[in-house]
Amino acid sequence: MGSRSFSCSCLFLVVLGLVLNVAVLCNGGKTSSFVRPVEKTIDMPLDSDVFRVPPGYNAPQQVHITQGDHDGKAVIVSWVTEDEPGSNSVIYWSENSSLKKEAKGQHYTYKFYNYTSGYIHHCNIRNLEYNTKYYYVVGIGNTTRQFWFITPPAVGPDVPYTFGLIGDLGQSFDSNKTLTHYEMNPQKGQTVLFVGDLSYADNYPNHDNVRWDTWGRFTERSAAYQPWIWTAGNHEIDFAPEIGETRPFKPYTNRYHVPYRASGSTAPFWYSIKRASAYIIVLSSYSAYGKYTPQYKWLEAELPKVNRTETPWLIVLMHSPWYNSYNYHYMEGETMRVMYEPWFVKYKVDVVFAGHVHAYERSERISNVDYNIVNGKCTPIADQTAPVYITIGDGGNLEGLATNMTEPQPAYSAYREASFGHAIFDIKNRTHAYYSWHRNQDGYAVEADSMWFYNRHWHPVDDSTSAQTK
Ligand SMILES: [Fe+2]
Repeated sequence: MGSRSFSCSCLFLVVLGLVLNVAVLCNGGKTSSFVRPVEKTIDMPLDSDVFRVPPGYNAPQQVHITQGDHDGKAVIVSWVTEDEPGSNSVIYWSENSSLKKEAKGQHYTYKFYNYTSGYIHHCNIRNLEYNTKYYYVVGIGNTTRQFWFITPPAVGPDVPYTFGLIGDLGQSFDSNKTLTHYEMNPQKGQTVLFVGDLSYADNYPNHDNVRWDTWGRFTERSAAYQPWIWTAGNHEIDFAPEIGETRPFKPYTNRYHVPYRASGSTAPFWYSIKRASAYIIVLSSYSAYGKYTPQYKWLEAELPKVNRTETPWLIVLMHSPWYNSYNYHYMEGETMRVMYEPWFVKYKVDVVFAGHVHAYERSERISNVDYNIVNGKCTPIADQTAPVYITIGDGGNLEGLATNMTEPQPAYSAYREASFGHAIFDIKNRTHAYYSWHRNQDGYAVEADSMWFYNRHWHPVDDSTSAQTK
């Protein structure tokens, strides 16, 4: 055998070996073949139309709403006035009535290095009727602006409700596409579950807080009309000792109020709400979560309170994902997973939504709770009592897409794709919810990934997409 034919034989064996190796190891789910051209993510310039300041003296801007109590009969309305404090009140009335009511709020200001905020108003409107359209007016006295919202149906087990999922939105051109796609999606999300990383102002010199204002104006077109449920991400920390800013979460906590006290929480970073047929628990990846900490003790007491007969769907929001097979932020969620995953399995959480990784991924139902430091059982296993983990950090951000994935795709990863987009979690009744993920490059109605969720309490049969297509 000549040296040339010998080297050819070796090459053949090496290639055969690689093919067989890949065939053995690639037992995971689907890595989408869709490859989005990687372009730099660019923030929209300050004079973009989406950042336009509303006309009129002291006109309210950055209007946004969120749920204001534990069960959906209150709404926190927030807005900013720039010229003077103006009125803290909101005038509101139901569409069935001409009787106008007034709710009184408060305003706050804060400084961040050389930035001074406008007057940030928060007003909690309480004792609203369920399932009712309300009009509301802010800016009483100078320039008024009118908006509306629809309260959720009364909390109950078979109440249909449609949630949107957006994470890591930022204010890039891609962010604008994501928000537009969410607004135009024919499934019509009624409330946004936002999984953290709002404005990315901290990417600018001195965390230029003007970019918090532009973000507030950009998102007003949705957030003034439907509640956005807030989760804190790492870009909300704004810890900047080099410029004298040592109090974490300062811009975020001044600008975005959440009803944390209503669920017995002691800080606005972890809390819960009930909305229609869902019980939503928001956790903080960036607050202490170890044993004995306030967040740990709160969650330990909170999970047994969830009554699946009243709210069948148990949804958890956090920023840093526990199961992530991209080479970005790899294992950052691991320590929180070690602390809380046994509880999620015990209490049969239906789904966990996270952001942080700028891409999309959906897991199988898996758990990794058997490991006890001496038994070596540290591999995720299929577990029908465990949640599905979804990473939806693909809102648009400022830092670009996460395109680099760990290979081969792990068995627990059902679908992954590095594209910008949003998702919809559409609860039909106590047993079924339809989930879909929509990438920005497609038409508004196109579903790039989807799954029927079967409720873990009421209908705990295998709902993996592979089982559903059998
Ligand atoms: Fe993040």
